[in-house]
Amino acid sequence: MSLRTTTSADYVEDVSPGTGALAPRAWYAVSDAKSLSLNGDWRFRLSATADAEDDSFAAQGYDAGDWAEVTVPGHWVLQGDGAFGSPIYTNHLYPFPVDPPRVPTENPTGDHLRVFDLPEDWPGDGGAVLRFDGVESCARVWLNGTELGEFKGSRLPHEFAVGQLLKPAQNVLAVRVHQWSAGSYLEDQDQWWLPGIFRDVTLLHRPAGAAGDFFVHASYDHTTGEGTLRVDSDVDGRVSVPALDIDVATGEPVTVPVEPWSAETPKLYDGELVTPGERVPLRIGFRTVVLEDGLIKVNGRAILFKGVNRHEWHPEKGRALDLVTMREDVLLMKRHNLNAVRTSHYPPHPAFLDLCDEYGLWVVDECDLETHGFTEQAWRDNPVDDDRWTPALLDRAARMVERDKNHPSVVFWSLGNEAGTGRGLTAMAEWIHGRDSSRLVHYEGDWNCRDTDVYSRMYASHEEVERIGRAVDGGTHKRRQLPFIQCEYGHAMGNGPGGIADYQQIFERYERLQGGFIWEWIDHGITHPELGYAYGGDFGEELHDGNFVCDGLIFPDRQPSPGLVEYKKVIEPVRIEGDGTGGTVRVTNAYDFADLSHLRFEFSHSVDGLPTGAHTLTVPALAPGESAEVKLPAAPDGQGEEVLWTVRALLAEDTPWGPKGHEVAWGQGTVAPRTPVAVAASARPVREERLITLGPATFDARSGAPRTICGLDVSGLRLDVWRATTDNDDGASWQDDTRYGVLWRGLGLHRMRHRLDGVESTDDALTVRTRVAPAAAEVGLRTVYRWTSDGTLLKLTVSVTPEGDWTVPLPRLGIRFGLPADTAREVLYFGGSGEAYPDTRAASMLGQWTPGIDDLHTPYVRPQENGARADVRWAELGGLRIEGDPEFWFSARRWTNEQLDAARHLTDLTPGDTLWINLDHGQHGIGSQSCGPGPLPQYFLTVEPTEFSFVFSVTE
Ligand code: GAL
Repeated sequence: MSLRTTTSADYVEDVSPGTGALAPRAWYAVSDAKSLSLNGDWRFRLSATADAEDDSFAAQGYDAGDWAEVTVPGHWVLQGDGAFGSPIYTNHLYPFPVDPPRVPTENPTGDHLRVFDLPEDWPGDGGAVLRFDGVESCARVWLNGTELGEFKGSRLPHEFAVGQLLKPAQNVLAVRVHQWSAGSYLEDQDQWWLPGIFRDVTLLHRPAGAAGDFFVHASYDHTTGEGTLRVDSDVDGRVSVPALDIDVATGEPVTVPVEPWSAETPKLYDGELVTPGERVPLRIGFRTVVLEDGLIKVNGRAILFKGVNRHEWHPEKGRALDLVTMREDVLLMKRHNLNAVRTSHYPPHPAFLDLCDEYGLWVVDECDLETHGFTEQAWRDNPVDDDRWTPALLDRAARMVERDKNHPSVVFWSLGNEAGTGRGLTAMAEWIHGRDSSRLVHYEGDWNCRDTDVYSRMYASHEEVERIGRAVDGGTHKRRQLPFIQCEYGHAMGNGPGGIADYQQIFERYERLQGGFIWEWIDHGITHPELGYAYGGDFGEELHDGNFVCDGLIFPDRQPSPGLVEYKKVIEPVRIEGDGTGGTVRVTNAYDFADLSHLRFEFSHSVDGLPTGAHTLTVPALAPGESAEVKLPAAPDGQGEEVLWTVRALLAEDTPWGPKGHEVAWGQGTVAPRTPVAVAASARPVREERLITLGPATFDARSGAPRTICGLDVSGLRLDVWRATTDNDDGASWQDDTRYGVLWRGLGLHRMRHRLDGVESTDDALTVRTRVAPAAAEVGLRTVYRWTSDGTLLKLTVSVTPEGDWTVPLPRLGIRFGLPADTAREVLYFGGSGEAYPDTRAASMLGQWTPGIDDLHTPYVRPQENGARADVRWAELGGLRIEGDPEFWFSARRWTNEQLDAARHLTDLTPGDTLWINLDHGQHGIGSQSCGPGPLPQYFLTVEPTEFSFVFSVTE
């Protein structure tokens, strides 16, 4: 190891994992050995190629005074206001020519320099280790002018022994980071390409006799209630767990009665590993994961994953996440009933797994491996099927397993994602099975399950999942013996995902189906001064995949999207069902381990959407899987108003993840329906010059269009069938199924013409006859607007009769109209609580709500149809009351659907002088076709003769 003055950068394109790093070992955040964080401001110099500069910067005394600075951990492309290049987003395409292991000559290379002193109390004896927790994609390291080595494997730790090189003061740590390397071929995950030292850099003192690697084996025998602990340690020592009176030598097993660990009951025991030179805190969870009777069982019970795929993301910091953000993710997951995370598609920051242990989440820990871009060449030259790359693959597997093996939350090791099949994957699986028999192995890419312990798929349709549940799906003999999970489903891009309640029902119907993981947790939007959040293409990338990178259940700022609220309801761990009319509801415990004693049940009746008071409902502390019929108090007489019952399951006490009173589950049902308002057609339309007056409204005498209703100016009232297509309407270009968003636009449903066929004024009604149709097509909708009034109430009945050969459903069907922008700041309505569409309405709770107009807009990163409220009985705004017969979908926005459709970023939307209201009789389902199946047929808005009414009046 000496300072080379060459500029050779051959290692960048070498398939080997690197040289000089220590063998991987268990990761821990703290021990009583000293450590020094080297995070902070580093000197930084960017070069255009890997060898533009020699390595003289690594020498002591080098003057980097004129270099820029970057923050470590961080990605340089997200710093320096564009001076350091830009992020690139591709889904699976390599953003460079595919010629493995060669990479482009243009290879942004960041030289990082940090000069540091040792703290005064840094011990003079012992060794030291320099740890990098994550550097993308290839780094070469020097300390005080001596080269330590170089490495690849971006989301994996690398340690170097540096004790002999350290000085008390003015240590010079130099790190050269290359954006592209042979390793990039193994890291083709669907995400931004973001070079940099993006995880912590730490100097660890290693006293004589310090701990080396150690493996905590903590199993649980559900038949005896006992746990067995054995800590294998490279350095002999003792292991103590005071709460269990354990004090044994390393390597020695001990069996005692314990409380087991599960995601629902994450019992951890504090312990310590004491070697001659170090005390390492342990957090021990006892649990046993097995494949038994074709099922994944933990502590003797089959579990159901209610999971999500989590990429690490922060809108300003990219994948450089701090602890606060990681904890926020875990708390949000727990509060939304999630019980599992797949760490797509690489091991996360190790502290995230500490949080999963602590709060309770099942983890599928995935290796940093994806070679998806090789699909473009029919997987020719795929590194996972080329022996030259196998050492790199094994290195990645070992770095993941050794780092994370002491986490009770990790129940599966995943070999990687979308890497085809090949001997390298088999070698990884064999090594992992040999090293850790206490967990199962996952990989989705091999449908024959050659190397895996579970049959895993992504985006399989409901129908196929059902067939798999019934075990009539075929496949190899091995596969048929295995349990099934959907490692990705419910593509949460933009508005959606739809249909997840239907999946959940199927998962719960068949034992073999052990749940799934929604794709994905967070939108990877990047904070941008002009665009709000940037996505693919916004940095001028020559190849990119647009907003496919914004497909999460939470927005970039971590606000839950309606998709997360829906998922929370769909996977709620308590089912509260019944029609309520019999005076009872059925409560079912859907947990796998916990009973219901941590919940308090609250009951209320509501009349016309307003609760009449809340009572506590006594529900037995049911065991998992048990149900009980629970009697409800007598219902009030609604006197023609609708009467509903609502039961809510709330946390009885504060928990580590949620406060007392936090809502975990709820159920609702109708006791008595409402009586729709009747309007006698007793008033006559009165014609004077250019206006017709009918009850509280005036109409243009020539066109029959309303001008005022109940004193409010009304513009543009007419049938509306268009919605700004959602990502799931448009579908992904590679989908070969029918994509209705594309067909709708092709047919011209976004440019319907409204032909006036007649305005008829009779004794009891004003009738306007029209035909609504797109240019160039024979299909049309005969649309009749019939207005009647009793002098006070005004009723509109819309009759729609399709003509021609309609081969597509409609996006929406209803009316829209404009009101002056200052009509209202908020809406009072009785209907469903949040955004909902036909197949995303599980979480829509009926009640009276008063959202602000602006709160009715859901800020999808790429604007699209959003915000509809379902099952609205009536709505009031600006003194106008609208009642539906039947219930309707309500939307209000400060721009038209056409403007929404044209917008590419949220900043393209600016309020105009009109408030646009849509009252819909129907909406088409949402589905998941941006990367999965479209809506199920029962959620289609089929074109058929339809009639629906609204009654307008002045609010009381
Ligand atoms: C999957 C892939 C994910 C992501 C998703 C679509 O095929 O595993 O990484 O690309 O599709 O968003």
